[in-house]
Amino acid sequence: MPGRFQPIDKLINLYDGYRKRLKIDQLDVILLQEQGQCFVIETRCPHQQHSLLDAPISDGMIVCALHQYGFDLLSGANREGLCNDLSRHEPVYEGNEIGVMIHDND
Ligand code: FES
Repeated sequence: MPGRFQPIDKLINLYDGYRKRLKIDQLDVILLQEQGQCFVIETRCPHQQHSLLDAPISDGMIVCALHQYGFDLLSGANREGLCNDLSRHEPVYEGNEIGVMIHDND
């Protein structure tokens, strides 16, 4: 489905441990880099909407600070605790920038 590229940052600014929040219209996501790989995830934990901006990551799992529910970064699957999976977006690369595609229903 075509969409509009929304840049989040320049590739040169990325490093392991990098995190940046993008909030635009209905979209509220975090771009992060972990072990050389970039992920775009929803900012809010699907359990009770706590921010994941500073949530620690271990073993490929981001762990919400409020109740320690964990979510697989690759798939978004809920691995610790019991709630819905974490929504993810595919990172999109355009030129020297990384971002996401925004669709009209986002
Ligand atoms: S709000 Fe994130 S685990 Fe409860």
